[in-house]
Amino acid sequence: MITIQDIAFQKAVTVHYSNSNGVWSGACPAFWVAHIGQDDNHFESWKFVCNIGSAGISQFYVQYDVAGQTYYDNGCGMGCNYPVSVTPPPSIGSGGFANDITDWLRGAIPAAVRNLRSNIHPANTNPGVVVAASPGNVNNYFFHWIRDSSLVMTALLSVYRQTADQSIVSLFGDYQSLTRQLQTTKLLTGLGEPKVQVDGTDFTGDWCRPQNDGAALRASSFVRFVNTAFPHDASQVLPIYNATNTGVIVTDLNYIADRDVYTSNSNCDLWEERRDVYLFTLMSQRTALREGAALATSLGDSANAQKWAAAANDIDTNWLPKFYNPSTQLIGRGVSDPALDTAIALNAIHNAIDGTYGPADDRLLGTLYTFALSLWPEYGVNQRRPLVDSAGLPVSFAIGRYNGDHYNGSASSSKADTGNPWFLAVLAYAEVYYKAAAAFLSQNGVTVTNANLQFMTGNRPAGLGLKNLKVGTYGGNTPEFQAIVAQLKELGDTYVRSVKYHAGGFNLNEQYNRDSGFAMGVNDLTWSYAALITANLARENLTQASSRRR
Ligand code: NOJ
Ligand code: NOJ
Repeated sequence: MITIQDIAFQKAVTVHYSNSNGVWSGACPAFWVAHIGQDDNHFESWKFVCNIGSAGISQFYVQYDVAGQTYYDNGCGMGCNYPVSVTPPPSIGSGGFANDITDWLRGAIPAAVRNLRSNIHPANTNPGVVVAASPGNVNNYFFHWIRDSSLVMTALLSVYRQTADQSIVSLFGDYQSLTRQLQTTKLLTGLGEPKVQVDGTDFTGDWCRPQNDGAALRASSFVRFVNTAFPHDASQVLPIYNATNTGVIVTDLNYIADRDVYTSNSNCDLWEERRDVYLFTLMSQRTALREGAALATSLGDSANAQKWAAAANDIDTNWLPKFYNPSTQLIGRGVSDPALDTAIALNAIHNAIDGTYGPADDRLLGTLYTFALSLWPEYGVNQRRPLVDSAGLPVSFAIGRYNGDHYNGSASSSKADTGNPWFLAVLAYAEVYYKAAAAFLSQNGVTVTNANLQFMTGNRPAGLGLKNLKVGTYGGNTPEFQAIVAQLKELGDTYVRSVKYHAGGFNLNEQYNRDSGFAMGVNDLTWSYAALITANLARENLTQASSRRR
């Protein structure tokens, strides 16, 4: 990754390198990755991938052609150049979960469940309402967001799976009644409305609307709930599905199955800022439609099953390929707006249930690696050396929503502000790595491709650090496979350690300061707790998957 000044739109960046004997032997092009910092800074991150081969590499310099001029950057003047050091591989078979993280989670998870639950129907709200952050906050989070509440209820469902706590079933009952009320109220953009008031009435102020991930995530939360709480019990499922006027699932799915809804480029993204066809939104729709079609089939509702499956097929075939650029090997967040974004990681953990763009997808691992590196110049905390917590243990790079974010979490935030790392973004990385390892274990093998090789061989904190790894397929008994799984656990734990370190306790805000590292933004963001709960669940599932193999 290199940083260049944005002198003009058209530019060519070339990297020249010498082999391990110091002979200038090759050149390869670099390509654009992201804008850095604020719009008026005019710097950009570019990335290069050179096929070095067995001749090796010892140094490089950068050639930059722009506006009829050629500039050279060789680091420090004539004859100097950037040295490339090759660090020895970590010993194969080492690595695995970190004890400090296991210990911390023992306290942090019960606290997260408590804090999450106290944001469900707190005082002065209607039953079923999930406020986005704890009531004490002075800014604008005392609303029921459709996206946040769906992700929160889905996380709570995972707690139900482990504890069979019946009070969670009754919380779903309240959430269903509120949802039915909202579906039958005339809201500004109908089922595309992003948030409502805590008494269940509509919010009519200015906002980026519609946001069509909401109805999809909500439908998925209910489908997953009925499949878990009432498997094969149509008499319990139908009142939640459709049979009476209490049903909520069919309404949401019929809304998002409409081609005009899912292909509209005037939908707002999950960050409530931009309009395009977005990967996160589209895949949340497609996944809800698939899950809904399976449920419809089991209930004998073949008309809806066919309609929803057809829409999901259309998305899979005609839309999902548009988000991957084979020449940069990157997945972009939107069709016209292909920037790198944490939404790609969130999509992997929440929506990519059958693999495409999911945690084990080589393109996803490569993209998240590049995105993490692109945030190195963005946040001061990433430039600390060594990058460790107060006990000297390694922490991850900080991850925020996207490069150049302005939103600092305060109600008065403006374009003059700078965004920060988000706890839920850091936790999404941890969850991706745990889930990737679990997927490789269940496949009993892993394929290293040109798309994920850099992630696998890249240095910490962003990569797995397996320097000697080559493209190829490795079965479950190979040392390469075992090293990849062990390093994924270790890397995932560095992300959780960042949360432990920057939260400074069990309470999770929305953000932590990009330079000082102190927690900021709203207190007790409900979605942060949901993110910790699902990351921990992925870690526990991975522990079990690992022990089954012994
Ligand atoms: C509030 C939104 O929730 C947030 O995502 C956005 O960045 C700010 N408004 C600024 O538009
Ligand atoms: C701002 C975030 O950008 C958005 O995704 C979220 O729904 C709201 N805050 C509420 O948490």
